[in-house]
Amino acid sequence: MIVIASRNPGKVREIAALPAASGLEIQAISDFDNCPDITEDGTNCEENAVIKAVKYSLWLRRTHGIAPPVISEDSGLMVFSLMGWPGVHSARIAETEVERNWQVLDRLRGKHDRSAQFLAYTALAVNGMLVESWRGSVSGAIAEEPRGEQGFGYDPIFIDLKSGRTFAELDKERKNALSHRNLAWTQAFDYLRQHHLPVR
Ligand code: IMP
Repeated sequence: MIVIASRNPGKVREIAALPAASGLEIQAISDFDNCPDITEDGTNCEENAVIKAVKYSLWLRRTHGIAPPVISEDSGLMVFSLMGWPGVHSARIAETEVERNWQVLDRLRGKHDRSAQFLAYTALAVNGMLVESWRGSVSGAIAEEPRGEQGFGYDPIFIDLKSGRTFAELDKERKNALSHRNLAWTQAFDYLRQHHLPVR
């Protein structure tokens, strides 16, 4: 069994549906009784991924007496001409997703360099110890205004350089194939298989 350290059922479903997850027995951390909320107080996304994996792994050992591989993820948008902002603050710079998109667009007004990256970090912990962490990234550019209806978060303002479309204008399969999240999770699942960690 592998435990996905996310309390968001939509995210867990999306991760479990990735090609790299096929054949793995996946359980969400929220399926365990009295699952606590973990404060994400790291200074960057990698630290937050590590904090969640290690703390949930410790919690499973102490409260349920088990030590399965626990994998977490933390992700965000990094805009180069804004010195990497919003980065680790991506989920919190404004109340709603629409407002968050406009905050980025407002700060970029008049700036020539609109290059950006989506970054995702995954971290694996077993028995309260960090085993490994991985990074997935996708490069793009910030649009002049939001476009498209698909996806979530900053998808309407993040342009895929190959197609010129925003992630919100791409269908789900196309976005998932390109995405930072897919890259970070695929590395984590491949590691489990290569190292024969208990995945069933
Ligand atoms: P978390 O990893 O769930 O904390 O997500 C961080 C924030 O980054 C999300 O709330 C989104 O605003 C943003 N984000 C991360 N990945 C994506 C993506 O694939 N598309 C759009 N926004 C994203």
